[in-house]
Amino acid sequence: MSDINRIKIFDTTLRDGEQSPGASMNIEEKLRIAYQLEKLNVDVIEAGFPVASIGDFEAVKKIAQCIKGPQIAGLCRANDMDIDRAWEALKYAGDRGRIHTFIATSDIHMKFKLKMTEDQVVEAAVKAVSRAAGYTPNVEFSAEDAVRTRLPFLARVVEAVIDAGATTVNIPDTVGYTIPSEYFNIIRFLKENVPNIEKAVISVHCHNDLGLAVANSLAAVQAGAGQVECTVNGIGERAGNCSLEEVVMALRTRCDVMPFETGIVTEHIAAASRLLSTVTGIMVQPNKAIVGANAFAHEAGIHQHGVLQEKSTYEIMTPESIGLLTNKLVLGKHSGRHAFKQRIEELGYDLSKEDLEKAFCRFKDLADQKKEIFDEDLDAIIADEIIRVPEQFKLLQMNVSSGSFAAPTATVQMEVNGEVKKAALMGDGPVDAAFKVIKKLTGSQAHLLTFTVGAITGGTDAQGECTVRLSQDGKEFLGQGAHPDIIVASAKAYINALNKAASFEARESVEL
Ligand code: KIV
Ligand code: ZN
Repeated sequence: MSDINRIKIFDTTLRDGEQSPGASMNIEEKLRIAYQLEKLNVDVIEAGFPVASIGDFEAVKKIAQCIKGPQIAGLCRANDMDIDRAWEALKYAGDRGRIHTFIATSDIHMKFKLKMTEDQVVEAAVKAVSRAAGYTPNVEFSAEDAVRTRLPFLARVVEAVIDAGATTVNIPDTVGYTIPSEYFNIIRFLKENVPNIEKAVISVHCHNDLGLAVANSLAAVQAGAGQVECTVNGIGERAGNCSLEEVVMALRTRCDVMPFETGIVTEHIAAASRLLSTVTGIMVQPNKAIVGANAFAHEAGIHQHGVLQEKSTYEIMTPESIGLLTNKLVLGKHSGRHAFKQRIEELGYDLSKEDLEKAFCRFKDLADQKKEIFDEDLDAIIADEIIRVPEQFKLLQMNVSSGSFAAPTATVQMEVNGEVKKAALMGDGPVDAAFKVIKKLTGSQAHLLTFTVGAITGGTDAQGECTVRLSQDGKEFLGQGAHPDIIVASAKAYINALNKAASFEARESVEL
């Protein structure tokens, strides 16, 4: 494959993706995702917006220090302070560090948001790129709201920033407004009208407000774009960003009509999707392309029959190609460490010896309560025991009495900032009672938005899985918990969300 046919995948799950309501992640969580992105072999990981908060800065720095394969990008506005701060975090990646600076170029943004003229915007863009280029030759410039920018002006900005040292120029559809034919024409226009365009890679960055982010990205690739910006599970603000797994699998599956390839090791896609859902609490809809629970499920008899005879009758790609396990191995209380470890590895988890032992003990506890342990149970164990490690607040014990006669009462013992506390309260129902006690013990002011309950697998002995959505100071936090007792699962989910809110608060934040 020549350079022209090799499409770079720029993953922005940790930056644009994190802007989804409730998706905020702490440093350890971001690093965990970054390791998975490294396994996927993405070309660039956009690790955050270093000037936005101490937490963002530290996360970018840590990822720049730890991740070895992909380039590491940090976003910054077109000003000296942002660019200097970004490089302070990115310099640890050495020549793999990428400064990504942006300014809006559409009339509507220049007039109402920036209050700047065209000349002023070009000047700011050139100044920013030149400053960034003083730190590294790896500079990306984004013309925010490029799709609603007048084309001659867009071409002028792009030419100027390439002259100033930008090696990647990104043409974002910031508000998810374009359609494939229009986006194709924009990229073609730039290729044909910007004299120095061959000195830079054209990047595309699509939002999904009209459900067209993947289609638009593919159209742009066909018009000559060399980099696609996307997120795992398509998470992102509003309707989200272009989904990594969809764009990558579309390119792989239809290489007959789109002769391009990415460097993605697609067999790690399913694990990346699951890990992100676990970390953020944002579940994938069952009918989501590629990674939804039903994406490879054939319900209709005629389809099942066809697939059994010859897979390609109804299957355009194999579940194995995205790393889905088709051998449904069920573990039980007689399964030993070896079988447990093997299954955990097959599911795509890379655990330290210590974490594996913790997870194994939890598995044994669960196997005493539940006859069959499915992959979904193992996911829940890893999530609960390894990924959602309690920070400030930890559930120690709880007991609830409820029914149709006595008032529901919950007694909860918790560790709050290292101190053991206990209280009991009544509520309208057992969950209400439990949440009231937890609120009292933690002193939280967060407001409960939604609470949902589900079962991880079938059967009455299935683990309950709860999701809690809270709001605190205008920001949303999602928490999850799993346990064979649904009330304990609810309490865990509530505490998980409170921990996320507390850790976000601790990461000093500045207004952008
Ligand atoms: O959507 C957008 O325009 C962005 C830029 C900052 C790249 O996220
Ligand atoms: Zn964006």
